[in-house]
Amino acid sequence: MAEIAVLGHGVVGSGVLEVLISHANSISKRAKEDIHVKRILDLREFPGLPYSDCFTKDFQEILNDPEIKIVVEVMGGLEPAFSYVKACLENGKSVVTSNKELVAQKGAELLALAQKNNLNFLFEASVGGGIPIIRPISQCLAANEMTEIAGILNGTTNFILTKMIREHMAFDDALALAQKLGYAERDPSADVEGIDACRKICILASLAFGSHVYPDSVHTEGITAITKEDVGYAGAWGSVIKLIGEVKKLENGRVHIQVAPMFISRESQLANVDDVFNGILVRGDATGDVVFYGKGAGKLPTASAVVADVIDCVRHLKSDRKILYWEDAKPDYVQPWEDTPQDVFVRVSGSGESDTLFDLVQQVFPNAVRLIRRDEETGEAGFTLSQISEKELRGKIPALEERGLKLENRITIADF
Ligand code: HSE
Repeated sequence: MAEIAVLGHGVVGSGVLEVLISHANSISKRAKEDIHVKRILDLREFPGLPYSDCFTKDFQEILNDPEIKIVVEVMGGLEPAFSYVKACLENGKSVVTSNKELVAQKGAELLALAQKNNLNFLFEASVGGGIPIIRPISQCLAANEMTEIAGILNGTTNFILTKMIREHMAFDDALALAQKLGYAERDPSADVEGIDACRKICILASLAFGSHVYPDSVHTEGITAITKEDVGYAGAWGSVIKLIGEVKKLENGRVHIQVAPMFISRESQLANVDDVFNGILVRGDATGDVVFYGKGAGKLPTASAVVADVIDCVRHLKSDRKILYWEDAKPDYVQPWEDTPQDVFVRVSGSGESDTLFDLVQQVFPNAVRLIRRDEETGEAGFTLSQISEKELRGKIPALEERGLKLENRITIADF
């Protein structure tokens, strides 16, 4: 019998209990041992559950119980999760977590601690919910030289953008609908500002390339500035707008990493990843592009990934495989985002017909390629520029303003 503890009985924690109870037989067979939840940490009361007598409000009761060898952390947030997980790894307990904030901020430190103490620190559920992505990158694709990962990593924002594209909804209306349907939190800022996607691409980047990328070193843009006009211009370019987390390994050994809304060609394998679904493209030199698709959030998909890690832990209580590992990175590991040339779409406004505005644009950007959207209105113009850095683009804003043009938005054009 493997005794485990669960820290947190929220959406994911209660899902973990549900999966462990409803699939007990098959899980025991796969783990080659019965799995028993001995303690659940939560400050709230949960009377009337079949496992109500397992609850405790005291973490020390779990930490000091020598029978508990595996701790599942599904509380979320950095503290007290970090202190609890660290204490478990220092006290001979393997840890399974779904906490992307914890892994994105403290992954290198916790992996080193687990390795030092010959324990497991597993986090399949931290990216992509029920989509297998951590093991595929660290094991199945390990023979490849991975060059790039690009993903739609946030279901809430993908739902909002899908509504803006398919039903021509405005951002605020699409967000309100997402909240009504339970796809967005009452405070959706971590999703719509790209923070959630940033944590996830940092975890994937760290895993694929072996050096920790911290969220605060990543350029992060959300979707709050995207308008129906941008969606229309994307359509004119043969694309859709998606919030993408992207990392590329550069020849100089550094990485280019960003979270931003992007024009995604309709030919791309990520273009049809709609609604609350996630899609992650991993580019390997031997495999070419491999795409993972599925539900990136939700109680049971996420719980299933957590329980799979628990099964793996039970089977390999003393980790000698070291399948997940990355090191801390050098301070200049992330290439400054504003220096990296990319193709971009630019939308400007001014007074006059679009033709006139575009003539003025060409005085500043002679190689601009004009886009004309359906329902284009007087006073606006859209165009694309190839391989221009943010620094260079910003440097041209005074020249645009001298001609009475205001830069309304710029959106990266993806190359996958
Ligand atoms: N709000 C997140 C999403 C949940 O929409 O993807 C999973 O991180």
